[in-house]
Amino acid sequence: MAKPRIVCVVGTRPDTIKSAPVIQELRRYQHVCETVVIATGQHREMLAQALETFDIVPNVDFAVMTPGQTLADITTRTLSQLDRYLAEHEAQIVLAQGDTTTTFVAGLAAFYRQIPFGHIEAGLRTPTIWSPFPEEFNRRAVGMFAALHFAPTTESADNLRKEGITAGLHVTGNTGIDAVRQVAERSTAQWADDHPGRVILLTTHRRENWGAPQRAIARAARALLDAFPDTLLIAAMHRNPAVREILRDELGAHPRAQLIEPPEYADFVKLMQRAHLILTDSGGVQEEAPAFGRPVLVLRETTERPEGVDAGVAKLVGADYDTIVRSGSELLSDPTAYAAMSQAQSPYGDGRAAQRIRYLVLRFLGIDAEPEAMWDSSKPSSTA
Ligand code: UD1
Ligand code: UDP
Repeated sequence: MAKPRIVCVVGTRPDTIKSAPVIQELRRYQHVCETVVIATGQHREMLAQALETFDIVPNVDFAVMTPGQTLADITTRTLSQLDRYLAEHEAQIVLAQGDTTTTFVAGLAAFYRQIPFGHIEAGLRTPTIWSPFPEEFNRRAVGMFAALHFAPTTESADNLRKEGITAGLHVTGNTGIDAVRQVAERSTAQWADDHPGRVILLTTHRRENWGAPQRAIARAARALLDAFPDTLLIAAMHRNPAVREILRDELGAHPRAQLIEPPEYADFVKLMQRAHLILTDSGGVQEEAPAFGRPVLVLRETTERPEGVDAGVAKLVGADYDTIVRSGSELLSDPTAYAAMSQAQSPYGDGRAAQRIRYLVLRFLGIDAEPEAMWDSSKPSSTA
């Protein structure tokens, strides 16, 4: 009998980074299953970087990205290609991570073909479908039909239970923590070597922040630089031209601002470690920074990751100029406030999420491979 085929769909920087540990783990079991990686190509350079970091060569690349693509562009181009692939190739399960359009379309394509779908990082929720946009819709939509929900935390599992979802629900930890641990010691990059002072790291790309909110964020970052002459700002610029334009406009001429191309993942992790303070609207960075004890000011009105805020390592500041300047100034001037936010602890997982997910996927396919003692009661656990 042919081995069951697992189709993993990736397409952007974050869904690739967080799927990578699962793909690697499944590939260790190639004697019992076949793991196919499909890249939608929603991102181009940033996708290539992430794949390379983890030595993953996709079996297929749809290369859908176009400059200035709309959500409908990504959805329609990806859906038709993925549907064709699933029509021509048998698959026993489709897996995708998170809340990108790639993830949504992977789920939808599997649903249309009535192939079971496994959702990695399930159950993250904000109170409003409009924020983050369109991610909140994407993850809620695939939650409706997923056969397996891999919730990173007990809170995210509770969100699903409130929606009546209990079948196939497991708390596994977040695979992003597996990824960050894997690369943490790998990079030889030297960041701000010739700068003796503190580094503030900035990343911003969310659709809700495009335009005026972005500008307020960049101006607030400039105000912090001016108020604290020992600081250097490093902005790792997303590839989206709309985001870059405003950063260049507001910060490009500042002598202590470096606007850089997005570093490859391992180098970026090293940069997070070099940073004293992180300003970000990224989901993944919010989860990773606490692993290194770096305080995070979250440039968003709402977060689907309340665990970091509850643990005191992250603070929601929105895109409001005054709030960012006030909160940033406090952390840069008050050692007690800084110490309170800089405990190195991760509420997001223990680095073994991918192992748990591999075990659960194989068990779903009828293969009972190496259960191991993964369900330590003090750690993320199975509710199945
Ligand atoms: C996407 C995801 C978002 C995720 C983010 C991570 C959706 C709807 N959005 O947003 O959830 O947080 O990725 O970064 O799925 N571009 C390049 N090269 C690249 C990548 C992007 O040039 O490698 C430019 C292109 O002009 C592209 C634009 O950025 O059209 C926007 O890319 P898109 O994937 O639509 O949105 P993101 O903001 O990256
Ligand atoms: N990241 C990276 N290089 C960068 C910025 C981010 O490798 O210049 C990594 C980061 O460590 C995290 C992921 O990319 O793992 C987050 O991606 P992004 O912020 O684009 O998306 P989000 O997590 O908000 O969906």
